[in-house]
Amino acid sequence: CGIIGYCGHRPAVPVLVEGLRRLEYRGYDSAGVGFLHTDGLRVIKAKGKLCELEKTLARENVLNATSGIGHTRWATHGEPNEANAHPHVDHTGRLAMIHNGIIENYQEIKQELQAKGVTFQSDTDTEVLLNLISHCLAEDGDMLQAMSRALGRVEGAYAIAVFDAENPGVVHAARVASPLVLGAGTGENFLASDIPAFLPYTRDVVFLEDGELVRMDASSWEVFRVEDLRPVEKMVDTITWDVQAAQKGGHKHFMIKEIFEQPKVIQDCLCGRLGTDLDEVRLPELDDLPGTPKRIHVVACGTSYHAGLWGMYLLEQWARIPVQVEIASEFRYRNPILDPDTLVIAISQSGETADTLAGIKLARSQGLKVLGLCNVVGSSVARESDAVLYTQAGPEISVASTKAMCSQLTALLLLALYWGHGNGNLDEKIHRDVVHGLRNLPDLLESTLPALRDKAHELARTFSDVNSFLYLGRGLHYPLALEGALKLKEISYIHAEGYAAGEMKHGPIALIDPKFPTFAIAPDDELFPKVKSNLVEVQARSGQIVALTNVGLDLDVPHRWDVPRATGPLSTFLALPALQLFAYEVADYLGKDVDQPRNLAKSVTVE
Ligand code: G6P
Repeated sequence: CGIIGYCGHRPAVPVLVEGLRRLEYRGYDSAGVGFLHTDGLRVIKAKGKLCELEKTLARENVLNATSGIGHTRWATHGEPNEANAHPHVDHTGRLAMIHNGIIENYQEIKQELQAKGVTFQSDTDTEVLLNLISHCLAEDGDMLQAMSRALGRVEGAYAIAVFDAENPGVVHAARVASPLVLGAGTGENFLASDIPAFLPYTRDVVFLEDGELVRMDASSWEVFRVEDLRPVEKMVDTITWDVQAAQKGGHKHFMIKEIFEQPKVIQDCLCGRLGTDLDEVRLPELDDLPGTPKRIHVVACGTSYHAGLWGMYLLEQWARIPVQVEIASEFRYRNPILDPDTLVIAISQSGETADTLAGIKLARSQGLKVLGLCNVVGSSVARESDAVLYTQAGPEISVASTKAMCSQLTALLLLALYWGHGNGNLDEKIHRDVVHGLRNLPDLLESTLPALRDKAHELARTFSDVNSFLYLGRGLHYPLALEGALKLKEISYIHAEGYAAGEMKHGPIALIDPKFPTFAIAPDDELFPKVKSNLVEVQARSGQIVALTNVGLDLDVPHRWDVPRATGPLSTFLALPALQLFAYEVADYLGKDVDQPRNLAKSVTVE
């Protein structure tokens, strides 16, 4: 989602709407603004793209207000409709608030407020937080105090901005684990989830940190710590990017930006799903399904299909549920034998892929239940499925999918933990270790990504002139070999083939020569000795090898790529970005159109 706040000397509403337009790449299923009108607080919202909001605004006189807040939404929970659009208004009608993120403990706060007589219009966590602030404001009489007290109660991730109709020249905002930057202008100040929103007006920005609270008006801004309202000294940075570069977070392409977003993607997908008790995975989305499935059939296309294949290994190993994974365009036409006890998991980033949708319809027509694993709230897959697990990757712009796959793997891992723990097939220690590893995974990945990129950059210069690449992996890393090959061919147009390492001897080995390099995924797991002997076979035929492996492993290959160790299957979350970065660096070095490769579409809504 994108949020913006403005206090200044210009008509606020056009400034807010223009800012939202530059944030539209962050989400676009509804939009809204809140400001003070002559007759009081005014909130105007519309479902759909920003132009829908503009049509509504055109019918109103909105030019008097010189401060306000605005929001463009990418739904994470709840349908993308007008009621769920932001800003929300508190029960007294005095405050309006915009919010990105998720409040995890909103149910208990809601009950407390209801007991005190507060009534709610929606089921959203945003409305609960807003009314908690409003409640504290009524008691404390001071917005900073009220926000500090209210935010001290909530758990979760948020960036919020609050507009108070009784103090309309001021906007307050705060963040934890969701982006928020302040734009410091002359006689005007801005708040936004991203710099492009206000870049035409000011290049002076202040990056807010977790646990910080801002108060701004037209001529001043101050930052405080949420916990005790102690003032915080902040640096003002000057941005030199243009708007386009700023939308890409200063990166050259959306793809590289999205690769670097993966630590946050994992965190967002885990948010609210790992209980405070270490052993607990919570997936209330599954409550509508009839318990642990007897069998699973995964149906998907492209990268989502590779995620499904990866999930099969874990679901079978941990939950001992038999899993079959199928390309949707095959599944829909082969008249499959389907047992009503089988759960179909349909995986789709966009939620609009025609073949996957046809697979869902086929399964449901035969009485099977379908769990949709998708990224876009309210998409066709979400609507056609019996239950939906949203992967929470945020909008993915680059045609070649990166962060969406990372989120799909996270969701599949949670499913395997959940069912494996539920049916008693998963060893307690493995469960504990993996949950613990998952909590640390975002930080581990964050600290590893820069070095991964440097190595990918170096290897890209060595290998960008080859015509063909072989990717090898075994077990969990076989689907990654398929995905690594897919990424390379999608964006660099170099032919690449992914193979199960043990199957190489049945064909591809005939192709090995010094001009046909092999990219091996060979981390420290029980299959490492097997992969190693496959690589010896490649070397015996003078094949070049790049091997993604771990420090200390005995593997003598010309292009060794050591990545940090992670708990069991979590090693995938370090190998995947390495493969993505290699493909990216090769394609960029070759000057290809990385974000929009020829002949490919982001969402394939035809057969
Ligand atoms: C297209 C995209 C791929 C994606 C596939 C499936 O081919 O280019 O990146 O993996 O569709 O899309 P879905 O939205 O169903 O995951």
